[in-house]
Amino acid sequence: MSFSTRVLQADARGAVAEAAGLLKAGQVVGIPTETVYGLAANALNGDAVRRIFEAKGRPQDNPLIVHVAATETVQEVAAVVPKAAYALAEAYWPGPLTMVLPRGGSVAPQVSAGLATVAIRMPSHPVALALIRAAGLPLAAPSANLSGRPSPTSAQHVLQDMDGRIPLILDGGPCRVGVESTVISLVEEPVLLRPGYVTAEQLQEVLGRPVVLAKAIDHPLAPDESPASPGLKHRHYAPRAEVILVKGDLAAFAALAARQAGPGVGFLCFEGEEALLPPTAVAYGPIDEPERQAAALFSALRKLDELELKRVFARAPMRRGVGLAVYNRLLRAANFNVIHA
Ligand code: TXA
Ligand code: MG
Repeated sequence: MSFSTRVLQADARGAVAEAAGLLKAGQVVGIPTETVYGLAANALNGDAVRRIFEAKGRPQDNPLIVHVAATETVQEVAAVVPKAAYALAEAYWPGPLTMVLPRGGSVAPQVSAGLATVAIRMPSHPVALALIRAAGLPLAAPSANLSGRPSPTSAQHVLQDMDGRIPLILDGGPCRVGVESTVISLVEEPVLLRPGYVTAEQLQEVLGRPVVLAKAIDHPLAPDESPASPGLKHRHYAPRAEVILVKGDLAAFAALAARQAGPGVGFLCFEGEEALLPPTAVAYGPIDEPERQAAALFSALRKLDELELKRVFARAPMRRGVGLAVYNRLLRAANFNVIHA
C-alpha cells in the first residue's frame, strides 16, 4: 500500500487520539521515544506486525521490541517474569532498557520472529506513554529507519525513510538519548545483548551479579556462528558510504585525513576538531562526553549521507559507560573495519 505520509506535532489537539485510532485499526505509526523514533503497531495483531516488517524492509528473522506503559502488562506479554526483571523495572523503567523474557501467549508470534522469547520495554517519552495508554495496547516497535540505515532521532529522519510507506508520524521533537535501548536477556543468566544508555555496570549493581556481554557486541561473528540476538548479525546503523573506524589520537587522525582527503571522502570527528580536518568533516559531540556523542551520532551519520560520499573515516570513541553503545553502533556501521591511524 502507498500512503501520503502526514507529520503531526504530537502536542497538537487530537494528534495522539488520531494515532491511537490508526494503531487500533492495525496501521503503523512513526512515534517518538527517548532513545530513537519507533515504527509502532499493535503487538497483539499479526497482520499489523507484518506491516512493520514491510515498511522497514526488515529481515523476517529479526524480532521486535514490545512497548508497554505499565509493569502489569509485562505479565501478559511474558510467560515468566523473574524477580530480576521487577528489580530492573523498578530501577530503570520507564526508560531506555529492554528485557528479553520467555514469550507469553497474547503477543503475535511475528513479534518474536519465531523465537520462544520476547523483548519488552517501557519508554519514558511522554508521547509514547500517552499513545500506548490511548490505544490500550502493547505496541511492537523497531527503530523507524529503513532496515540497515542509521536510526532516526527526529521526525524529519523518519520522513526521509518512511515517506509513502506509513500514514502518520507523530513529531515529539529530537530524541534525548539518541541510541537505541540497552537490551538484556533474563531468560537464563543475565546477558547484555545490546549496549545502550543504561550501562552493564548499572545493571550489575541492581542485579548483584555479573552481566555477561554477548560476544557479537564487539566481535564479528564467524560465518557459522549464530548470535544471542538476531539483530546482532545484520549490518546496521550505516550511512550509504563505506565507514572505516579509526583508532589513535587527533594528530594521527588529522595526518590520515590530509593523506586521504579528496572527492567523495568524509570524516566523522569530535566537536572542535573540524578546523584541523577537510571541509567534509562532521562532528558527533565532545571527545569526553559519551552521552552527547550518543545524542548526536545518528544525525551526524545522516548529514554525511547528504554529502554523497563514497568513504567516511570515523574517530573511534572511548568505550567506557555509554561510550560502549556509541562504539558498538559505529563498529557495526563500519562492518567491523577498524584501523589504527
Ligand atoms: O530504543 C529502542 O529499543 C528502539 C525504540 C523504538 O524503542 N527500538 C529498537 O528496536 O531499537 P530495533 O528493532 O531496532 O532493535 C531491537 C533489537 C534487535 O537487535 C533485536 O534483534 C533485539 O532487539 N531483540 C528483539 N527481540 C529479541 C528476542 N526475543 N531475543 C533477542 N533479541 C531480541
Ligand atoms: Mg533498529
